[in-house]
Amino acid sequence: MKNTVTLIATAAMGLEAVVANEVCQLGYEDVAVENGRVTFEADHYAIARCNLWLRTADRVKLLIGEFEAKTYDELFEGTKALPWEQYIPEDGKFPVTGKSHKSTLYSVPDCQSIVKKAIVEKLKQKHGIASWLEESGAEYKIEAALLKDKVTITLDTSGAGLHKRGYRVGQGDAPLKETLAAALVQLTNWRVDEPFYDLFCGSGTIPIEAALIGQNIAPGFNRSFSAEEWQFINSAIWDKALEEAEDLANYDQPLAIYGSDLDPKMIDIARENAMEAGLADLVQWKQMQATDFHSNESGGYIVSNPPYGERIGDKKEVEEMYQKLGVALKDYPTWSIYILTANEKFEALFGQKASKKRKLFNAFIKTDYYQYFGKKIGK
Ligand SMILES: C[S@@+](CC[C@H](N)C(=O)[O-])C[C@H]1O[C@@H](n2cnc3c(N)ncnc32)[C@H](O)[C@@H]1O
Repeated sequence: MKNTVTLIATAAMGLEAVVANEVCQLGYEDVAVENGRVTFEADHYAIARCNLWLRTADRVKLLIGEFEAKTYDELFEGTKALPWEQYIPEDGKFPVTGKSHKSTLYSVPDCQSIVKKAIVEKLKQKHGIASWLEESGAEYKIEAALLKDKVTITLDTSGAGLHKRGYRVGQGDAPLKETLAAALVQLTNWRVDEPFYDLFCGSGTIPIEAALIGQNIAPGFNRSFSAEEWQFINSAIWDKALEEAEDLANYDQPLAIYGSDLDPKMIDIARENAMEAGLADLVQWKQMQATDFHSNESGGYIVSNPPYGERIGDKKEVEEMYQKLGVALKDYPTWSIYILTANEKFEALFGQKASKKRKLFNAFIKTDYYQYFGKKIGK
C-alpha cells in the first residue's frame, strides 16, 4: 500500500480557515479548503499527528475514493472497485453511514446498504471467505457522502469526535464544544505571557483550551483514536507522535489564565475539569459577578461565551447585564475583548461597535463573535 494518503479534516461551519491554518502549522501544505472540510495529502504519520494536534477540527477522515453515481448500479460498482481488502481485514467491523445532498440518489438508507453490500462482496472475494463476515474485530467506520452525484467514500480515523478530549467530567447547561472554544482562543492575538480571562467560564472550556494552547499540550494526548487499532497502519506512528507531543509540550510555561462565573457550582466543575486535563492549578478559578471584573494589569484578553438570554424571561436580565458589562469594561481600553453571543443587539447594549465580527455556529445556534481590539499600550 502506498504511504501517501488523502486526509480530510472536517470543520464546523465558519471554522474551515482556522482548521486549514492548523493543518499548515503541522507542516502539511497544499490544503484545499471547502465548506466543512480541509483536504490535503500526507503520509500515514499525519494520521496520528493530526488526530493528536488538531484543536479545532471535528474529525480526521481518510479518503478511500471518489466517483460519480446516478444509479444504484454505479454506486455499487464504484464502491466495489475500491481496494477495500487493503484497508479492512477479515474480521474488521465496518458500519456504513451516509448523507446525500442535491443528488439523484437521495435515499440515504438505500445508499448505505448498497455501499455495505459492495464492500462485503469485495472483501469476501479478496479474503476468500464463503460464509458471512464476522465483523468481530477493530472498527472501520465508513461514510458515503453524495454531493451533486459525486460520491466521496471515507474512513473515520478519529472515532469519537475530536472535541472529546477526555477531560470533561462535569458540565453546565450550555457548555461550548472544546473545538469551538479552542477556535475562539486562536482567533485572538493573545500571546502566552499576557493575562487571559473568561468572565463566564461555566465548566471552564475556554480557559482550559487556552491553557492547553499556552503550554503547547496536544489536545488529544489523553484519548485514543479508531485508527490506532488498524492493521494497515504501522502502530509505531502513534508512539512516535506521542513522543513528539511530549517533547513539544512546554509544562514550564507560566500562564496568567483566569476563569470566573457567578455560579459557585460551575467553579467546582471547572476546577475538576482542569484537574482532569492535567492542568492542576494552572488556571485560577473564582466565583464572581462578571460586572465586578477588576485588574491592575494592561493589555489583557477577555474571551467569553456569556448567556444569550434565549429563554423567555431571561432576555431582559441578560440584556441589562450586557449593558453593565459594557460600562465596567470601559475602564480597560488596552484590553482586547471577545464575546460570542446570539444576541443581535449586543453592540448597542455593550455600548461599543466591535472592531470586527465573525459569524460562527455554536451547535445549531447562529452567533456572532464580537471582537474589540485593545489600544496598544503607550499610545
Ligand atoms: C453559556 S454558559 C458558559 C459555558 C462555558 N463556556 C462552558 O463551556 O461551560 C454562561 C455562564 O455564565 C454564567 N453567568 C450568567 N450570568 C453571569 C454573570 N452576571 N456573571 C458571571 N457569570 C454569569 C452562568 O452561570 C453560565 O455558567
